[in-house]
Amino acid sequence: MADEWQRCMDHGVEVTQQAGKLIREALERDVAVMQKSSPVDLVTETDQRVEQLIITSIREKYPTHSFIGEESVAAGASSVLTDAPTWIIDPVDGTTNFVHRFPFVSVSVGFTVNKEIEFGIVYSCIEDKMYTARRGKGAFCNGVPIKVSGQQDTTQSLVLTETGFKKDPEHFKTMMGNMEAVLSIPVHGIRSPGSAAVNMCMVASGAADAYYHMGIHCWDMAGGAAILTEAGGVIMDTSGGPFDLMSRRLIVASSRNIADRVAMAITEFPCGRDDAES
Ligand code: IPD
Repeated sequence: MADEWQRCMDHGVEVTQQAGKLIREALERDVAVMQKSSPVDLVTETDQRVEQLIITSIREKYPTHSFIGEESVAAGASSVLTDAPTWIIDPVDGTTNFVHRFPFVSVSVGFTVNKEIEFGIVYSCIEDKMYTARRGKGAFCNGVPIKVSGQQDTTQSLVLTETGFKKDPEHFKTMMGNMEAVLSIPVHGIRSPGSAAVNMCMVASGAADAYYHMGIHCWDMAGGAAILTEAGGVIMDTSGGPFDLMSRRLIVASSRNIADRVAMAITEFPCGRDDAES
């Protein structure tokens, strides 16, 4: 099957590149914004068009494969991961950035077989950085090998996380408290680039040393998880246990020391699972 998955990945890179081009072109026009679950959960016509482009192209070539796509799930499709070859797609990761033309916007594609991530593709399309990784074969940015910083000392680290309005005041308090706890370790600083997939690639390429997040989705994490792991990074659950793609939370870091220290500092809040049957 090795060659078969490589062919899938090559096709994935090609269609991801086309998707990125479509996003860049859309940025030259007015962006019509719609709301999803809350005033800060945004979607645009571009998210929907890009997802359609990717799924249509892949389905033509691989009609038996499954898909979990952010916008298809929003429209009612299942997000339960099965053993089937599955493409997990975030067509525009960083929709808020896209709306504001803040330059971290990515297309994220992860591919799983038997629920294991086989490869990941993240195209940060405004920066024109194509990150790719195949299981056991290393991680690359525009074809050049990348690796994590290797930083072991949390007090020397730069940490990424994302903030957002949380309707539940308890969640909001925990999110803000977590930032305070991490800053007080102390660390060199916290940054919020606004695209989970880009955040993971930043850790994978040594531009940051850790990233933690609760409340994201499998489509935000799948592509970046492959890249981070292949770049020598550590990925785990916010509890300190093994990473679970459907758990909606993660810590990634350049070393186990830093991942453990961040896990110790933060408090979890319940965020449900992507595979919870509704
Ligand atoms: C969002 C981004 C953002 C994170 C949000 C995600 P989307 O993805 O990854 O960094 O803070 O939680 O939903 O919605 O733009 O694909």
